[in-house]
Amino acid sequence: MHVDVKGLMPDSHYYYRFRVGTWISPAGRTRTAPAAGSDAGGMRLAAVACQAYQDGYYTAHRHLAQEDVDVVFHLGDYLYEYPVDAAGGARRYNDRTLPDVFNRETTTLADYRLRYALYKSDPDLRAAHARHPFLVTWDDHETENNYAGAVDENGSPREQFLARRAAAYRAYWENQPLRAEQLPQGPDARLYRRLAWGSLAQFDLLDTRQYRSDQAYDDRPHAPGAESDDPARTLTGAAQERWLLDGWRDSDALWHVMPQQVCFSQRRFDLTAPARVSMDAWDGYRASRNRVMAGAKAAGVDNWIVLTGDVHVGYAFDIKDDFDDPQSRTLGTEFTCTSIASGGNGSEKPANWDTYMKANPHMKYYDGRRGYVRVELGREKAQVDFRTVSGITQPGGSISTSASFVTEVGSPGLKSA
Ligand SMILES: [Fe+2]
Repeated sequence: MHVDVKGLMPDSHYYYRFRVGTWISPAGRTRTAPAAGSDAGGMRLAAVACQAYQDGYYTAHRHLAQEDVDVVFHLGDYLYEYPVDAAGGARRYNDRTLPDVFNRETTTLADYRLRYALYKSDPDLRAAHARHPFLVTWDDHETENNYAGAVDENGSPREQFLARRAAAYRAYWENQPLRAEQLPQGPDARLYRRLAWGSLAQFDLLDTRQYRSDQAYDDRPHAPGAESDDPARTLTGAAQERWLLDGWRDSDALWHVMPQQVCFSQRRFDLTAPARVSMDAWDGYRASRNRVMAGAKAAGVDNWIVLTGDVHVGYAFDIKDDFDDPQSRTLGTEFTCTSIASGGNGSEKPANWDTYMKANPHMKYYDGRRGYVRVELGREKAQVDFRTVSGITQPGGSISTSASFVTEVGSPGLKSA
């Protein structure tokens, strides 16, 4: 159901429901943003990602539904293409048996549609959607693991993969709160969007999957080199990059928030020099990242927050002008929102915690448990809270704030709250 409702008041909550014959749906709540350019004092958002159904319960969504936030950004891996067994994987259902139709990798339109139906049968996910408006972008798993543009991870023929991509994109659009005009045309879909919250914030929601160059070095962890640093390579595509940089240049917003998929900041995996980094993230596309950072500087974007999914852990980073020089200027901050479910319960200090913290001095926080990130944007500062659940393999886990940071207007960089 896609209804583009017109004539709503700015900065207001609305309730909605659907009626078919005598059947009336539960009521949902949404809200409109303050009018363009108006003097919004503050707002709160949440960022979530990565909800592999078979990895556990959506405990984090159940708590998210109780949060007082204006909007939720979903940063991708809303669903996973992998098979879900009869017991729902780690959910270990003993009161139901999932049909065989879910126990295979999604490749056709029917497969993807059914998979959304399974995910959306979850009561905790439904509660979060009913309570908050969602702004969504995808990562890889809504289609296929680590695909890049028209290239899948198995080296399938291009036309074959694009047919699968068209099916995945179509099912995504059908099942997400997207505008009618965003209907995909075959394997092409315009997902990147810009939204404003009065004069307080501009949100530039990116799509770093559809237009990217294929991963360098066979997508294995590798030190940056000639192959990955080729300036012809791109993570965003040329058109989206121009749109992003032009949008910053033309903006008077106080905050510039960039919700997107993969780690923007440098993330060294080892203490050796050179260290290996991820070829699937911005580290594998450093020329692309340098162009975006140069654009942010040229536009005078000085209250810059990047929100990231993908990695299934919570990180807080200072975005450094030169990531190899801890003394260089801090341009902004990045927060990864861990996962709702992917990876199971996780642990507070993953095995590589010491290595990562030492190898990346601009990484100020690293936690391997499930949850989401909550952000309060104000006129003087932003506060970011890592909301962490106790566990997801049993229903009913509790939530707490495991860390809080602030970043002050005009003085980019993380401070402990
Ligand atoms: Fe994921």
